[in-house]
Amino acid sequence: MSRAVQFELRLAERMSRLGTETAFEVLNRARELERQGRDIIHLEIGEPDFDTPPNIVNSGIDALHAGWTHYGPSAGLPDLREAIAEEVTRSRGVRVTAEEVVVVPGGKPIIFFSILALIDEGDEVIYPNPGFPIYESMINYVGGRGMPIRLREEKDFGLDVDELARLISDQTRLIILNSPHNPTGGVLGKRDLEQIAEAIGDRNIFVLSDEIYSRLIFDGKHHSIIAEPGLKDRTILLDGFSKSYAMTGWRMGYGVMRPDLAWQVARLMTNSNSCTASFTQVAGIEALRGDQSSVEQMCLEFQRRRDMFVAGLNRIKGFSCRVPKGAFYVFPNITAAGWKSKALADALLEEAGVACLSGTSFGEFGEGYLRFSIANSMENLERALERIEQWISNKNI
Ligand SMILES: Cc1ncc(COP(=O)(O)O)c(C=O)c1O
Repeated sequence: MSRAVQFELRLAERMSRLGTETAFEVLNRARELERQGRDIIHLEIGEPDFDTPPNIVNSGIDALHAGWTHYGPSAGLPDLREAIAEEVTRSRGVRVTAEEVVVVPGGKPIIFFSILALIDEGDEVIYPNPGFPIYESMINYVGGRGMPIRLREEKDFGLDVDELARLISDQTRLIILNSPHNPTGGVLGKRDLEQIAEAIGDRNIFVLSDEIYSRLIFDGKHHSIIAEPGLKDRTILLDGFSKSYAMTGWRMGYGVMRPDLAWQVARLMTNSNSCTASFTQVAGIEALRGDQSSVEQMCLEFQRRRDMFVAGLNRIKGFSCRVPKGAFYVFPNITAAGWKSKALADALLEEAGVACLSGTSFGEFGEGYLRFSIANSMENLERALERIEQWISNKNI
């Protein structure tokens, strides 16, 4: 039954500054087309197509039966914080203690809470563009001044440190890094991080280092700025379980930061969520301490798909694609096709039945690119290539 709305919806002004993630909009449109009987290949959404490994699922079920169904501490269960501290110490080569860890429902809340806790109106935040759209959304939401740093294809989507140095000012409070990078698959190497640390120098600037794809790296090893000399107290390391362990729906991530900031972020948790679900945290301990072979297998499978899909795109007229070094996205340059990114993404969905995202979903410097998620079967990726190729040849591009 519909009800007439009598009162005007008067939203707070800041709501007009909140952005979104286009992936969900494209997914909705794709589902609508499917309801109309169309066959759509989903390459828009950024989540592993694998199930959560059974040892983790069983641990979550056992935890439910064992009564892990109550509130827990806002900063996370002590045992999980300890397990995360051990994992970060081992993988990043820098000593981390449990009091520096805050467990939150997914990686996203660490972006939200860091920006809420650190950024006042007018403070400048440097962030990658193209980049994960939530950074810009949250900076704008709190009234910060977003300073996009362009990631360039000719630099293999790394970060130009001279450009970064030019963007840093007395108003800079935060620099956001993301490696491996969504949407380009770019990776920051040790030398890049050393140079970034040098550019920051001894300024009182925080780095939010989004490392949610740290386990999905194909060539070489993952490096974190938290290990650079002098940067540990100014780094907020974001990582989590969504991508590494195919646990997107469990909602569990974490931040590693100096204890006094961790305490403030825990206060934001108390005010917003109270705590992350207790039984999922018990499963998180199993994820970190249990068998890791499924992570390795998933990574190898993504690499196989990447190699096939990038080679396939490079055979299509109007497309040219670099080989991403990490994450599970492919970001081809489509300027030679003669279409704007959004128009091409829309046409591929509506006419070819392939759902992907426009590069502009990740900021203005994403114009000229499309993002394909390779979190789909080899067979579907091959079918997607055939459809795109056919569509392009029908258009005489
Ligand atoms: C770069 C980046 N950071 C953070 C997240 C958020 O991850 P979660 O689902 O754990 O909140 C994502 C998810 O797509 C991402 O791509």
